[in-house]
Amino acid sequence: MKRGGSDEEKRRAGEAAAEAVDDGQVVGLGTGSTAAHAIRALGRAVDSGLDIEGVPTSYQSRALAREVGVPLTTLDDATPDIAIDGADQVADGNLIKGGGAAHTREKLVDAAADRLLIVADESKLTDRLSAPVPVEVLPDAREPVATHVRDLGGDPELRDAERKDGPVVTDNGNLVLDCAFGQIDEPAGLAADLSALPGVLEHGLFVDLADAIYVGTDDGATVRE
Ligand code: 5RP
Repeated sequence: MKRGGSDEEKRRAGEAAAEAVDDGQVVGLGTGSTAAHAIRALGRAVDSGLDIEGVPTSYQSRALAREVGVPLTTLDDATPDIAIDGADQVADGNLIKGGGAAHTREKLVDAAADRLLIVADESKLTDRLSAPVPVEVLPDAREPVATHVRDLGGDPELRDAERKDGPVVTDNGNLVLDCAFGQIDEPAGLAADLSALPGVLEHGLFVDLADAIYVGTDDGATVRE
């Protein structure tokens, strides 16, 4: 994995993926700084006449879409044709997401989409997933889930808010345990184990969901299908 990617690389990835959106489509709108570039590009395309509707994955992506003029809908009324979302780590098409604590709604929208485009800079690419896996838990489930995660070989840490005392609270009113497992050799097995824990809303392992990875580079963007 390279050092943290630049905002220019993120912009190139986001804008390249936004170009894959066709007129008339419903688009899942991911969360994070890279997906935000795609949302801004879609806003400009809407200004130029592109007819789309967006399904946001977080308060943040909803606010940005409204700001840049992307009309919104919900999963009650539409199924996304395509979704564009960021990732914290990418290996073999499998992902770790949830750096923005939005992975529960991201997985809901991304999995509902016919096609999922992941946008990332090169620093996110790795041979094996190894970043801590964000796990959204009901507040009452914090300690029981932490105990189960230790039994699975993980090291759970409650995510604290950076700018105020107390933990991060998700858009859904829950808490996040960042669970370090070291190198993850079997993402599908760990994903199933985490999903089975009572009190877990969703975890940030996205296994076999991505259809294409748009990687922003120094001078453009590459696409890995
Ligand atoms: C939010 C996410 C983001 O997509 C992920 O953290 C990547 O963010 P960024 O593009 O800012 O690096 O999963 O829950």
